[in-house]
Amino acid sequence: VDISGTGASSKVTARLPSGESVEVLLYGATVISWKSDGGKVENLWVSDAAKLDGTKAVRGGVPVVFPVFGPPPKDHATSALPQHGFARTSRWEFLGKSSSEDALDASSVKLDFGLYSSNLSDEAKKAWPYDFGIVYSVTLSKEGLQTVVNVRNEGTKVFEFQLLLHTYLRVKDISKTTVTGLAGVPYVDKVLDATTHTQSSPTLAITGEVDRVYASIPQNTTTVLEDGKPRFDVVRDNLDDTVVWNPWKEKAAAMGDFEPKDGFKEMLCVEVGSVQGWQKLESGDGFEGGQLIKSLL
Ligand code: BG6
Repeated sequence: VDISGTGASSKVTARLPSGESVEVLLYGATVISWKSDGGKVENLWVSDAAKLDGTKAVRGGVPVVFPVFGPPPKDHATSALPQHGFARTSRWEFLGKSSSEDALDASSVKLDFGLYSSNLSDEAKKAWPYDFGIVYSVTLSKEGLQTVVNVRNEGTKVFEFQLLLHTYLRVKDISKTTVTGLAGVPYVDKVLDATTHTQSSPTLAITGEVDRVYASIPQNTTTVLEDGKPRFDVVRDNLDDTVVWNPWKEKAAAMGDFEPKDGFKEMLCVEVGSVQGWQKLESGDGFEGGQLIKSLL
């Protein structure tokens, strides 16, 4: 494990003896690279214009969305927060690493990151005055990348939150990319009309801008296919919802930090979370949820 960079640009890099690697920026605890297959295959998309210096949420990788998804509702305790909350724009602490198996043939490495109310900017603290602690564990193994969020209420007041792992998967060609595992699931279509529809087809093709919030998904695995062949399995653990997002041409053009402009052809966000309704945490209680992403090449 290697810690490099200074200040907001600090990042933690871990590599398995077999070559797989992961890179996590302390800013947002954003995973900005995950290489599988002996280190030969980059699985995450990060914009060429992404800010990695702590001046803006990272456009790409795996930003952590907490405690609110999207624009906060007006009549909620999160209403004064920015879109997607503060976790992705806060500097996290690196809590350390642990490896499994014997040191010689480490088959996985786990990196832990922490964010506590005391780490927040005064602005964020004022906008959301609750005492919390989050431990975010990023585990790299040959099997895949696992990211798990553990939220605890360390104060005396009850709070409500939403949580989402905003993963930007790298794909070869969006026109040949499809998604399965969402058949029969209701979703809110944020592009069309913000009302609820039901996914009727077993396969979702991405042929234009897509921004859908699938809720209460019965099956745990969402699969991304390329040319009809499974490319990624995204396995949810204790998180019931998944957002599928691709900005397509016009929205990508409108984002200053989205480069190259036709980069939307090489990415697809499959974002697992708990974003329909709210998770409620009583004083002293905790919640854990996460994902395992498998690269299926
Ligand atoms: C997705 C939302 O999760 O994030 C989209 O569903 C949103 O509506 C996208 O556009 C990107 O958000 P941001 O704040 O990173 O530009």
